Amino acid sequence: METERRESLLHKDRSYVWHPFTQMKEYADRDHVLIERAEGMYVYDAEGRRYYDTVSSWWCNLHGHGHPRIKAAIAEQLDQFDHIMFSGLTHAPGIELAEKLVQLSPEGLNKVFYSDNGSTAVEVAIKMSFQYWQQIGRPSKTKFVYLEGSYHGDTLGAVSVGGVPLYHSLFKPLLFHAHRVPAPDMRTARISGPIGEREVAEAALAPVRELFEREGDTLAGILVEPMLMGAGGMIMTPAAYMQGLRELCSAYDVHLIADEVATGFGRTGKMFACEHAGVSPDIMCLSKGLTAGIMPLAATLCRDSIYTAFYDDYAAQKTFFHGHSFTGNPVACAVALASLRLFEEEHTLERAQDTIAALSSAMRGIAELPHVANVRQLGFVAAFDLYEDVEHRKPFAPEQRIGAQMYEAGFEDGLILRPLGDTLYFWLPLCATPDDVHDIAARTIRVLHRVLLLQAPACLE
Ligand SMILES: Cc1ncc(COP(=O)(O)O)c(C=O)c1O
Repeated sequence: METERRESLLHKDRSYVWHPFTQMKEYADRDHVLIERAEGMYVYDAEGRRYYDTVSSWWCNLHGHGHPRIKAAIAEQLDQFDHIMFSGLTHAPGIELAEKLVQLSPEGLNKVFYSDNGSTAVEVAIKMSFQYWQQIGRPSKTKFVYLEGSYHGDTLGAVSVGGVPLYHSLFKPLLFHAHRVPAPDMRTARISGPIGEREVAEAALAPVRELFEREGDTLAGILVEPMLMGAGGMIMTPAAYMQGLRELCSAYDVHLIADEVATGFGRTGKMFACEHAGVSPDIMCLSKGLTAGIMPLAATLCRDSIYTAFYDDYAAQKTFFHGHSFTGNPVACAVALASLRLFEEEHTLERAQDTIAALSSAMRGIAELPHVANVRQLGFVAAFDLYEDVEHRKPFAPEQRIGAQMYEAGFEDGLILRPLGDTLYFWLPLCATPDDVHDIAARTIRVLHRVLLLQAPACLE
């Protein structure tokens, strides 16, 4: 891009734009990286520098940027018709996508309600569950349960069931009350292996059981990010926990609401994270990878039993009065269908296994470095925490902002890293190859050496 245009855009960015999750003052005397094009797992800035998109553009991208099949799907759909409302009208992409989602999703989820982002998928789940209990004659079941460290989005319903104090506590006066239970965090438990997993799961299930026994009659649902709690710090949780939750939810008539907004569509190595535990939720929220990370779209899937509770004569006043302007956007639905076809044609999940194995081996290398602890992985997601003193788990002083330093330094080595505090992670697109993984790991190690002032090993010089 010409220098003049680049500078003018960056000037306007500072003048007019308020970026999300960003302290804008940090950009008072420096610029955002201005992206000009993207292809595969790379994005290119306006000066032609190339970066690995190691976070899949906020955990969304699946098949790489600019996939020709996805571009064609957008063009073909636009040739037919663009956005139309989805109430009183319907369309082929919306219908066929719903059919496909029902076929792919865990057993029993037979109805699809569209919205347009992860937070709204969660809002829909909460309202759907709440209204369900009202309509089947159990009006006392109004409360929700969530996990410490959980993240379900930024709208107020989703924030009410959010467990990350940095993002959520300020808004408390605006929120509805929900019960918080501990998360089965393998990291803080500091034990591993199958026995460790069962113990961690059981320790976290005990307070849920106790809450369900005590207050089950007032509980509508529990929200959970299955197997992997992303924004709370890439917390990986045992399959036994999901299995235990399923049993408790069935026993006490509480909806199990799986938020697969981030984990869905292969990111964990299986189509949905619930599959690792062999668990079928009552309600499931999808977004991000639903359209291969290309268009905003979300879906909330539910069981027939929930749908049936809303199905009646209009006069019975059981309609689900919820919807968004862009609910079921046809272009987004067409892209989602194209993405799901790519899974079949390119054998995406079968091919993924080599990349997942490469990521495991790369993480073993990273685990050897000083200051690195709690290395963990599930499918295409891997994370580790940085400590000043690993043995005593003494964190770096907050003002050092090690994570933020890693983010900045990453650009110099062609990486878009986006740490969560001092937790560094990769959230790779499914198109990543084993070679990409090795290259990303080598670059990350270089960044770690620079930021942490480690002695660089000879092989990296
Ligand atoms: C598990 C989970 N649920 C919901 C959301 C909210 O999605 P959105 O940002 O599209 O509103 C996110 C976003 O990161 C998420 O990770």
